[in-house]
Amino acid sequence: MDDQAFDYESLYGKAAPASAARFAGFPKYMFVGGNNDPEQIPVEGLIEAAASVLRRDGASLAIYNLGMGPQGYPGLRRFVADKIARDRGIVATIDDVTITSGSNHALEMVGKLLLDPGDTILIEEFTYSGAMGVFRRLGASFVGMELDADGIVTDALAVQLAALKAAGKLPKFIYTIPTIQNPTASILPLARRKALLALARQYGVAILEDECYADLLWRGVEAPPALYALDPGCVIHVGSFSKSLAPAVRLGYIVAGWELMRRLLPLKPDSGTGALDQMIVAEYFSKHFRSHVDHLNGVLHDKLRTMVEAVEREFGATAECWHPKGGIFLWIKLPDAVDVRKLIQPAADAGIQFNPGPEWAVDADRSKSHLRLCFAMPSKATIRAGVAALAQVCFEQTGLPERGGNVARGARSRPAA
Ligand SMILES: Cc1ncc(COP(=O)(O)O)c(C=O)c1O
Repeated sequence: MDDQAFDYESLYGKAAPASAARFAGFPKYMFVGGNNDPEQIPVEGLIEAAASVLRRDGASLAIYNLGMGPQGYPGLRRFVADKIARDRGIVATIDDVTITSGSNHALEMVGKLLLDPGDTILIEEFTYSGAMGVFRRLGASFVGMELDADGIVTDALAVQLAALKAAGKLPKFIYTIPTIQNPTASILPLARRKALLALARQYGVAILEDECYADLLWRGVEAPPALYALDPGCVIHVGSFSKSLAPAVRLGYIVAGWELMRRLLPLKPDSGTGALDQMIVAEYFSKHFRSHVDHLNGVLHDKLRTMVEAVEREFGATAECWHPKGGIFLWIKLPDAVDVRKLIQPAADAGIQFNPGPEWAVDADRSKSHLRLCFAMPSKATIRAGVAALAQVCFEQTGLPERGGNVARGARSRPAA
């Protein structure tokens, strides 16, 4: 049959989103997205875990949700409850945990529950673009919260909330990534966590806490307890297995009391998150989580050092790096004269993809000189060569950085794409 002969155009719903671009493969220097290091996927361990859990519980795959209800495989919910108790100070039973198909799915469920078109939400001035996309599609408008090296500046937030209240525009919720913020990789200190919670209580504004990267801390770095641990009443907690294990597995979770959970569950009409994935991850992580994550964090920290060295070598004083305390991203500020949007196409022509700051910010113009580089997926050699290639593109487009590796740029030849 000829599919051209049928006119779908006239049938699309008014709210249908714009078309997707066809996937064209990854560029040579791929610094975008939240991908993990392919060499750190514990393939043999996952094979063993799959075999053992399938032998034990495989027959229950015959039944939707394994016949165990819509909140997910109890073994994985038990693992999550134990992990967040041990590492994040959260007291939760497995009934407070629902497994989702990635944590983006969890953010969408919360957005659908709380938002009406036209509602305001407070989000960090630099934040996860995927969350902005989800909330924007639900009709929310954003007010940015000022960030410094420690995360949300809560004194400024107090002033903002008072002004929003006076204007009759109190937000429904505050979306925050307090532990390894994306993209700045900061950790909100305890005193600010307490101030944030006090403001949420004072103004009756809920907090959506996204701890996507909280497992990825450098050795010796301590994070204060999760916001949910400090006040479960006004916080909805979201986490992910994408960064501690693998994003293609598509597993995340929501932690909330039953009052909220019973309103969230009807917003998960997917007949259950993939149960085989849940069984394998529960089996593997209930034995190997700490050793896997400790090793992964060592590898990631080492790759960050390689990237920072490369940025310092190639960009010199032209680039200011925020200092990640964990995670997989480096957030970089170039001089105000550089608008990174103008680098996107020339960089793509040179085989480089990076995340431009404006896509990671409430105010695109205020972050026009920022960019985000992911150091988890590329090898160290690719990081070095890719950062050098990016600096060369930047020089060709803007005249900056003038020097790289202590050599005047004009004298250097363009790196091969
Ligand atoms: C802060 C943050 N939250 C949530 C997500 C969504 O992750 P996933 O749906 O893979 O769990 C990401 C992905 O990069 C993220 O950076």
